[in-house]
Amino acid sequence: MFAHKLWIVRWLAIAVGIVCAGCGQKSTPWAWQLPPGFSPPPVPVDNPMTVEKVTLGEKLFFDTRVSGNNQQACASCHHPQFAFAEPFATSTGSTGERHFRNALSLTNVAYNATFTWAHPNLTSLERQIIIPLYNEKPVEMGLTHNEHRVIQRLTEDTAYPQLFATAFPQTFPQLNKDVITVDNIVKALASYVRSLTAFDSKFDRYAYYGEDIFTEQEIRGLNLFMSERLECKHCHGGFNFSQSTVHEGGSTTVRGFHNTGLYAEQTALEFDRGAFDVTGDEMDKGLFRPPTLRNIALTAPYMHDGSIETLAEVIDFYAAGGRNTPTGNFPGDGRQHRNKSLFVHGFGISADEKNDLIAFLNTLTDRSLLPSQSEPKSESTLPAGESPADNRR
Ligand code: HEC
Ligand code: HEC
Repeated sequence: MFAHKLWIVRWLAIAVGIVCAGCGQKSTPWAWQLPPGFSPPPVPVDNPMTVEKVTLGEKLFFDTRVSGNNQQACASCHHPQFAFAEPFATSTGSTGERHFRNALSLTNVAYNATFTWAHPNLTSLERQIIIPLYNEKPVEMGLTHNEHRVIQRLTEDTAYPQLFATAFPQTFPQLNKDVITVDNIVKALASYVRSLTAFDSKFDRYAYYGEDIFTEQEIRGLNLFMSERLECKHCHGGFNFSQSTVHEGGSTTVRGFHNTGLYAEQTALEFDRGAFDVTGDEMDKGLFRPPTLRNIALTAPYMHDGSIETLAEVIDFYAAGGRNTPTGNFPGDGRQHRNKSLFVHGFGISADEKNDLIAFLNTLTDRSLLPSQSEPKSESTLPAGESPADNRR
């Protein structure tokens, strides 16, 4: 009886060995480029980082064929030249529908404790990526009811079948043709997005590599940023300039969300109530996540709805202790919002000090993620010379 079972197991092993072309392939572990002593970001056990998955994920990220109507890639809203954000107040989806929020930069996104502007429970990149793929309010990539089209397009491509087989060698391509699945697309995209770490800014070289390269003005700006007068460090602290940061082996996780007094309570109720829309807790009305300030000079306009144009205006906004908008579409005094953080109390700042602070924020720019290093590698179906962004506006 027992011997009979063993025979079956052996037979199966041989059969699998014959048909499983990709199975014997070794995956190449991803090597993080981090400053000395830095911990890598957390990586889920069921989606370990490999060079093969990042390579596939990069191709998918820039490929419009991943959208339902073949019109939009992830990169259509997350442009590498703008640190994977976009120069528009809010995004537009593949069918032309308007998103109500500003596209976030993906710089060091792997270290985020939560994802998107205001979702306290969204703690996995794999789960986050499902949103743009399937979102219906508004439609972004438009995958709902279109999965088969996307899978077919990728299956018919000359390169993808092999890339998927190499990236997911544990799936048996010949036994099970389903190596090109939405699950594997998401895993590859998450691996690529996770790989977008950048620690080569002027600030990093000054702070973590000990290079004495800050100007007097940048040092003054750094001190202002860290000061109790301006309070910036309380919400944009730590190596990622965001309170919401995790890393491998880290013991505590802070998931900070704050109301910065951008909108009056009655106004904000009408269109985007931040974390409240997820938790239903009154205290969460108008609370948003402080995003990383890395590459902030490249990602204007600012805030969850792109309603502030420049860094100088962002500083004016904090100096005023929030925003009073007497007229316009969303009138009201955000400064009086009862959930406004005590850290947004307003402060006096001179024109020179403002320039100093902006000079410091400029040192957070890291060009290692910009296009020369990450050219689109897809064979997108867009007309020659047209970038994925052009089909949207
Ligand atoms: C239509 C434009 C659009 C498309 C297409 C799009 N995104 Fe986004 N992305 C956004 C917006 C807007 C947000 C902020 C959403 C929010 O806060 O609700 C965002 C947020 C994110 C975040 C969270 C960042 C953070 O700091 O928390 C990740 C990761 C992300 N997108 C990855 C992707 C990937 C991968 C794709 C392709 C599958 C993609 N996006 C396609 C507009 C887009
Ligand atoms: C109480 C916490 C808090 C303090 C203090 C604070 N911020 Fe923020 N910051 C936030 C939050 C939350 C957001 C997102 C707000 C939104 O979109 O509604 C934000 C957004 C920003 C943005 C726009 C980010 C983007 O990607 O659009 C910049 C720039 C910024 N803050 C700079 C600063 C500076 C400079 C200071 C100090 C003068 C400062 N912040 C103080 C919490 C804070």
